[in-house]
Amino acid sequence: MSGCDLALCDVALPDGRRTDIGFKTGKVVHIGAMEQADEIVRCHGMMLIPAATDMHVHMRGGTQAEKEDWHSGTMSAIAGGVTLVVDQPNTVPALTTPSHFTRRVKEAITDACCGFAINAGVVPGSDLSSLWTAGAMAFGELFAGPSSYGETLPAHDLSIALQKIRHMEGLATIHAEVVGPSNPITLVAHDFNRTPTGEADAVRKVCQINFSGCNLHFCHMSTGLAIDAIMEHRKQLTGLEHGLSNSSMAYRTSFEVTPHHLLLSNQDFLPGDTLAKVNPPLRDKNIQQGLWNMWDRIDVIASDHAPHTAIEKTVDFSDAPSGIPGVETMVPLLLAEVLRRKLSVSSLIEKVSRRPCEILGIPPAGFQPGERADFVLYPRETTRVDPGELHSRAGWSPFAGLPAIFPEMVIMEGRIVFQNGEFFNPGPRWYPGRGYDIVG
Ligand code: DOR
Ligand code: ZN
Repeated sequence: MSGCDLALCDVALPDGRRTDIGFKTGKVVHIGAMEQADEIVRCHGMMLIPAATDMHVHMRGGTQAEKEDWHSGTMSAIAGGVTLVVDQPNTVPALTTPSHFTRRVKEAITDACCGFAINAGVVPGSDLSSLWTAGAMAFGELFAGPSSYGETLPAHDLSIALQKIRHMEGLATIHAEVVGPSNPITLVAHDFNRTPTGEADAVRKVCQINFSGCNLHFCHMSTGLAIDAIMEHRKQLTGLEHGLSNSSMAYRTSFEVTPHHLLLSNQDFLPGDTLAKVNPPLRDKNIQQGLWNMWDRIDVIASDHAPHTAIEKTVDFSDAPSGIPGVETMVPLLLAEVLRRKLSVSSLIEKVSRRPCEILGIPPAGFQPGERADFVLYPRETTRVDPGELHSRAGWSPFAGLPAIFPEMVIMEGRIVFQNGEFFNPGPRWYPGRGYDIVG
């Protein structure tokens, strides 16, 4: 087979088979023995998997550039095997107007180093249809409970927003929490103030007020209890669907879980450690284990990469911003769990690459001819997370010292953009949502 821009020879596929793979104009064109290509890279049996799409990151920028910006955040993504990120709208200013949204897209086109999509924010009275035609990928995260840089959207306004988003056939992504009245000064108290029951209640409440049947995606579910609430709701919907000739209520619900809720508990840190303060909070080891037990049901793993600097976190617990950086460590940490046989590589690919694209309507990266040629080559040896080697401007990681497998090489649109720690002119590509109106 000739005519390929790039061929990787002797790669190990996720199912263990060894083969060659060829790319042309950003797509897979051939899989199987190859002799010719403009560039041939011999891979000696290293594992090749489709690159990840992280559907929940906060890339910051603007007045928050000391935490992160498009450049540092997307370099961090690439170095962690992520070639497409979905940015959240709780920036400063928040992306609740078409002009703020469009300015944000321009910033990313100038500074980002990988594929990106941007969600639009919702406040009472936002012009959702203009945000949709401006290219919003989805709406939210909508704050059904407050968080850093996120005000609660009252239930009535949320319900109206869901109705409008349903009308446009869009997707609403939801931060579901109930926040108690106390002012916690420890991680455990923070957990008690934003309880597992509260998370499940918030999920149920959002489902209840979704009268119009808008497609919902629940962000960063941290407890089995909340996932049970989603499962229960899905069952009711299926029942409804069977009983109705008009299946207008047959909407989709999906949810994501973060690596920090799977791999960390509040018992792993000193009681007042602000670095581990995040919303929803880290839970205890039992609840953490309960989340692992749900692995097969999880739709998506997303990082909720929420960088804050160590200095900003070095204040009293109640004043410290919530959030954990994690776009670069997401796949490496979970791949180390694959090597320890805690999960299968195919289930990991499904949750970090295939499902997020399916939920968002983005063409997936994959091995079939014609699929997007975004791939990552991983060695078979485990190292440990060293925060000093990460690319996020946050400069720290709560995963320091944990086993991880970092990419050796990253291919984006059929081109090598990262190899052995060096970047080779990675560039941006905007993935607008389905409502994008080029003329407008
Ligand atoms: O801990 C969090 N930090 N949770 C969120 O939902 C928002 C995020 C942030 O933007 O810092
Ligand atoms: Zn959130």
